[in-house]
Amino acid sequence: MDIKNILKQALEESFLHLGYSLEDLTLSFSNKPTEADYQCNSAFVLAKKHGQSPEVVANAIISNLKQDVAEVNFARPGFINFKITNKVLSQCLNNALSDERLGLKKLENTEKIVMDYGGANVAKELHIGHLRSPVIGESLARLNKLLGNTVITDTHLGDWGLQMGLTIAQLQEDGYIDGYFDQTKQNKQITLDTLNEEYPKASKRKSEDEVFREKAESYTKYIQDKLEPYWSVYNKIRDISVQRIKANYEKLNCYFDLWYGESTAADLVDEVVKIFEDKKLTKKYEGATIVEVAKEGENIPIEKKNPNDPQMYKNPMPPVYLKKRNGADVYDTTDITTIYQRNKDFSPNRIMYVVDKRQESHFERCFRAARLAGISTENQKLEFVGFGTINGTDGKPFKTRSGDTIKLEDIISLITEGADKKLKENGIKDSGDLALKIGVAAMKFGDLSNAPSKDYIFDIEKFSSFEGKTGPYIQYTGARINSLISKSNLAGSIENLCQLNLIDISDQDQRLIAINFLKLQESYFACVKENSLSSLCTALFDFASSFSKFYNNTRILTEKDEQKKNSYLMLCVLVLKAIKQGASVLAFEIPEKM
Ligand code: ARG
Repeated sequence: MDIKNILKQALEESFLHLGYSLEDLTLSFSNKPTEADYQCNSAFVLAKKHGQSPEVVANAIISNLKQDVAEVNFARPGFINFKITNKVLSQCLNNALSDERLGLKKLENTEKIVMDYGGANVAKELHIGHLRSPVIGESLARLNKLLGNTVITDTHLGDWGLQMGLTIAQLQEDGYIDGYFDQTKQNKQITLDTLNEEYPKASKRKSEDEVFREKAESYTKYIQDKLEPYWSVYNKIRDISVQRIKANYEKLNCYFDLWYGESTAADLVDEVVKIFEDKKLTKKYEGATIVEVAKEGENIPIEKKNPNDPQMYKNPMPPVYLKKRNGADVYDTTDITTIYQRNKDFSPNRIMYVVDKRQESHFERCFRAARLAGISTENQKLEFVGFGTINGTDGKPFKTRSGDTIKLEDIISLITEGADKKLKENGIKDSGDLALKIGVAAMKFGDLSNAPSKDYIFDIEKFSSFEGKTGPYIQYTGARINSLISKSNLAGSIENLCQLNLIDISDQDQRLIAINFLKLQESYFACVKENSLSSLCTALFDFASSFSKFYNNTRILTEKDEQKKNSYLMLCVLVLKAIKQGASVLAFEIPEKM
């Protein structure tokens, strides 16, 4: 039962009858929840148009309304207020309870979407800069799936760039891979720790040591040409890294359909370059192969404003590079070719990228190039969801005390410790991975409460609190209900009871839960439109808060009237299910106990 739609249709009929334009029809949740659930403010606009007073218009609309789900009231000077009847709210919640999806609708026009997020780099350690992409991406993927879209998730590893050549050159100099070049010699064991040492070393040298840099560049090209033994060393490094990346992503509840990388599209690069060449889109620039993507008037250097700001000299829309001077592929090459590969393999309606917003221009240029070449056509949406920086409580990018970038593994430890501290304060000894579950919820909720494009402050203390708008509060609300249900004598038969329409809404606290449930369901659709989970976080918090109010004011298990008690308990069951549905989109769990 779609209450809002019933009201909307009744309003539409009334409007048509009165000769009002449906374009002026608005219907939203009331901003005075004690007086009304929904409100229609159309009378103000219509009054102006038709030269009448809002009061006359509103009352005319009301007297032509035919519906029986709500009590309708006029409120000065021209509001139409709807208060849904208890009976209808009860029916609505009972319907939800008997449905696997809790009555949640699906999108009318569904799409096939390839989602690109995660984006860890092979050989480089995962750090805080890699936290938001899997967190936001995973939730957007789950949200789209829930609402009926077909979603293919691809982590798109960074595995084709200079870092690979740099690491191999360094490993070679430090004697790790001698056996690959000379069979009479031995290799030393390479672990993730080795890579964590060797890559930063190499990375530092590349700006100081010209010869080393050139060697690394050649090695990168050898890998891209699959030349032995470089190719074997490359695959070894890739395997070691990917194992660790997977383990870390899994701790964050992130799973991917595809563990492809930049390298996956490599075999298609020649084909793609040829498409550009055949369309006469390529140019040579200092030996490199480029494609101009600037539109008229765009390709002018920005005027110098601040001579110390290097950005100011940059061309706002530089060309994309298909090939470097030495023939190697670059970031542009692999991203453009990956669009080609995804279209070949999946023909999605949409490709969505969840990447640091500082990469926006790279994607804009790649998208333009793909369109110019016809690799992507206008009816395919190429969508960039850029995210902002994670700051510390001082408002500056979150760093370690010594000013270094924080490793992703250290973040996971930090959030786990934060949760562990709270558990101890509450007298709970952690049994296994509860602290991790809470920590992950704390961090995710803290992040996802913000629109992705915003920077946010990573405040573990605040995020881990069991009170206020936090992940642990949502979990705590669910855990409370779990314990309530287990103490009731209904525990074993809940699923059957869900089919029996036992909820009977009878007071204001319960009404508030019901309305917040409707808001929660609407929030999924706001989120999918906005590519942001922030509306869901807010709705989930309001929903949980309205439950807490009910829980504090109502004696549930000790209620003598059996029918009332069952109604209360089934309301609790619905709240738990709805919280779980929300949490599963935000990709954290609701523990049994907390
Ligand atoms: N590996 C990249 C980085 O660390 C992110 C990858 C984003 N996805 C893409 N298709 N380029 O910056």
